[in-house]
Amino acid sequence: MALSSVWRGALAVVMLLSPWAAAAQSVQDRLKTCLACHGESGQSTVPLTPSLGGQPAFFLNIQIFMFREGIRKVPLMNEMTRGISNNDLKALSEAIAKLAPPPPPSDTPDAKRMEAARTLSEMNRCNVCHGGTYAGGENVPRLAGQREDYLLHTLREYKANTRRGYDAAMQDVLHAVDDKQLVDLAYFLARQK
Ligand code: HEC
Ligand code: HEC
Repeated sequence: MALSSVWRGALAVVMLLSPWAAAAQSVQDRLKTCLACHGESGQSTVPLTPSLGGQPAFFLNIQIFMFREGIRKVPLMNEMTRGISNNDLKALSEAIAKLAPPPPPSDTPDAKRMEAARTLSEMNRCNVCHGGTYAGGENVPRLAGQREDYLLHTLREYKANTRRGYDAAMQDVLHAVDDKQLVDLAYFLARQK
């Protein structure tokens, strides 16, 4: 009796493992391609290419879905995600979310500029949605330690309505924020831990 339950257990493991192992393989291969641009350890060193480490899995899931469906229009990323299955998309998001978040740049931040931008951020409630430490959560992205060039680029795109979000939150928020303020916010957010 003990033996047969062991066998049943072993059989269940084999049946679970084979398809799962195949899927894991393809996700791992895909992940390598992704991280060639986005940074092997989750921290990007490529201009205008975001770090992905520490991003909430659900946020990644939504963005990869929007790339695949062509809702967020970036030809390169639309191509990279073409035909990805929902299961692989989910597994990929979960694997990426586990990578370490990017550390902020090692320069000494300009204290006055940081303080002014903190006030600006709090006035616009950036910290309310993105979290007190800007680590994000659920559908809201992590901003802390993100590349400054990417932050500025993507904020300008929301403002110009050329980046479609999953909802209109960012377009609404940036309505009253001018370009100089976007520059300061990107500086500030890139230097959060
Ligand atoms: C050849 C370089 C390259 C490769 C390979 C690549 N990406 Fe990207 N990815 C980019 C760039 C550049 C952007 C920024 C697009 C923009 O300007 O909005 C981006 C954006 C993203 C974003 C949005 C992140 C954010 O914070 O808004 C996600 C998620 C993402 N990529 C995931 C992936 C995944 C998953 C793969 C592999 C299937 C992948 N990328 C492969 C260059 C690349
Ligand atoms: C009402 C909630 C809310 C507020 C307030 C808010 N955000 Fe966001 N933010 C979001 C959501 C949700 C997203 C993802 C939207 C999408 O699907 O593109 C986002 C995306 C972003 C991104 C894109 C990051 C990436 O990796 O792609 C940046 C940068 C950003 N927000 C900065 C800010 C700044 C700066 C402020 C304050 C001026 C702010 N946010 C205020 C909810 C909010």
